[in-house]
Amino acid sequence: MPEVSFPESIVTERLELRCYDEMDAVSVGELIGSNRRHLLRNFPELSKGLTTPAEVEQFLSGCVFQWNERKGYCYGVWAKTLKNLIGQVKVKSLHWEIPSAELSYFIGQSFLRQGYASESVAAVMNVALKELSFNRVYVRIISSNIASIQLAQKLGMQHEGQHHREFRCGFGELHDVDYYSLTSSDYALCTPKETETPR
Ligand SMILES: CC(C)(COP(=O)(O)OP(=O)(O)OC[C@H]1O[C@@H](n2cnc3c(N)ncnc32)[C@H](O)[C@@H]1OP(=O)(O)O)[C@@H](O)C(=O)NCCC(=O)NCCS
Repeated sequence: MPEVSFPESIVTERLELRCYDEMDAVSVGELIGSNRRHLLRNFPELSKGLTTPAEVEQFLSGCVFQWNERKGYCYGVWAKTLKNLIGQVKVKSLHWEIPSAELSYFIGQSFLRQGYASESVAAVMNVALKELSFNRVYVRIISSNIASIQLAQKLGMQHEGQHHREFRCGFGELHDVDYYSLTSSDYALCTPKETETPR
């Protein structure tokens, strides 16, 4: 039986999420380059890295390697109408024996508050929990990141608890981290079954 894996492309109403390839170097360089300050607190490695074409290429080949090894699935998020790379959603910390995974995500600062994170993260959660029968997906969020906490709650995730002083951000400060998760059983309760007739 073939090993289960995430699809290379996920299409939603306004977005296409797909795995990166070497042709995406310019788009990725531009997205990171124009969002360094925006990413500094939550994604210090991305914010401080990818400064040269060689570093971008290394990042992309790392993504392809992780994808092929089933260790991480890094999706670029493209807006269909703009044809721009506007953000990224990554599936990581995979435990295939459960299966479970952590999600991390960002949307470029020119594209915020248009529902793009909701649409892209919900689509990846649906693939994991419904199509691939994952038992749990979770996110780790710095306690002061109100935008991401509200997004997690909007997507139906439950607060599990807080890990004290778990993350050092790109500004050098230590942060408490809140864990939010969605289990397959909770997901089944909050999404309509396909066989149900709408009233
Ligand atoms: C968090 C982030 C991904 C949200 O992206 P987005 O595309 O703007 O989010 P959406 O438009 O889908 O908003 C979804 C919900 O999140 C909440 N939200 C988003 N931005 C918010 C903000 N600045 N303040 C308060 N709530 C916010 C709202 O509840 C919003 O729903 P609403 O618009 O119906 O009120 C984006 O702010 C980002 O990339 N931040 C930097 C990186 C980051 O923090 N990533 C998460 C690490 S855990």
